[in-house]
Amino acid sequence: MNNGKPTLLVTGASGHLGRRVLELLLEAQAGPIIAATRSPEKLDNFKQRGVVVRYADFDSPASLDTAFAGADRLLIISTDAVGVPGQRLKQHLNAVAAAEKAGVGHVVYTSLTAPGPDSPVLLAPDHHGTETALAGSKPGWTVLRNNIYADTLLFTLNQAIQLGKLFAAAGDGKTAYVTREDCARAAAAALASSFSGRRTLDITGPEALSQADLAAIVSALSGQTVTYIPLELETLVQNMVAGGLPQPVAEAYASFDIAIAQGRFSTVSNAVEELTGRKPMRVADFLAAHQEALLQGIAVH
Ligand SMILES: NC(=O)c1ccc[n+]([C@@H]2O[C@H](COP(=O)([O-])OP(=O)(O)OC[C@H]3O[C@@H](n4cnc5c(N)ncnc54)[C@H](OP(=O)(O)O)[C@@H]3O)[C@@H](O)[C@H]2O)c1
Repeated sequence: MNNGKPTLLVTGASGHLGRRVLELLLEAQAGPIIAATRSPEKLDNFKQRGVVVRYADFDSPASLDTAFAGADRLLIISTDAVGVPGQRLKQHLNAVAAAEKAGVGHVVYTSLTAPGPDSPVLLAPDHHGTETALAGSKPGWTVLRNNIYADTLLFTLNQAIQLGKLFAAAGDGKTAYVTREDCARAAAAALASSFSGRRTLDITGPEALSQADLAAIVSALSGQTVTYIPLELETLVQNMVAGGLPQPVAEAYASFDIAIAQGRFSTVSNAVEELTGRKPMRVADFLAAHQEALLQGIAVH
């Protein structure tokens, strides 16, 4: 503790979400901040602003013992290690165990919408396994089940504009896309809050949109008619493989469409506003704000 404020630790601090959370914590003068990352040299800018930067790699439990020492509240940002089956869950379990060992009072974790055992999303078991480990651990926790980032739409909708067609295997299912910025705001607020119990929150945008809704939004923004073409799952996977994606990656992406078609991503919550005091951004506003990137197909970082 320092001046009565708990010490806040952010893992994965050099990633896009991590850096943004650090910025928001500094803006809010939230308290002593520790940034834990595999690449401390990338965070010199934060070090100069009073953030303590430590080396941490979820593949190395010993590094976590040192990195997590003295943290009161800790944000575990889920990793991007999805290439090797089982690796990401093991990483997250190492982080949960290290947080408990370090005597952390509260853990915030970035999970995924509806990750239960019945989810068809191939990445969901990592999140379900981590949530289960948290449930069995000593610290309090806040699970933030982040919906699909609206940011991911910039690339797919650019392709749709080029083709005049938006291909997906999502049927008429709707998705409550949320911007990464709103996920960062929610995570920073949950970390800096005084909540000490256990809660699971759906982090969503303000509305759920179908693929046909997206086609209409992007038609209006681009001035080109874009039509939604529903595909069978197999056809979508074949198309992605023909476009150069490895089969397992194509299957992982396509598994989101199955879940969307089942309505698993359609829940709209008010958690972002409750945590941050600000309504989450609408997809149409996000795309309009990034119109250049949308028309050029550049993902925003
Ligand atoms: N909801 C969605 O649509 C969506 C989309 C994309 C990603 N995600 C998830 O959200 C996370 C954050 O998103 P982002 O945009 O910030 O992704 P990003 O920029 O690709 O960041 C990847 C993150 O993984 C961390 N990481 C990788 N290997 C690690 C290890 N061995 N130990 C500890 N941390 C490790 C990185 O931390 P350091 O490099 O600082 O160590 C970094 O924070 C992603 O990692 C992914 O799990 C969700």
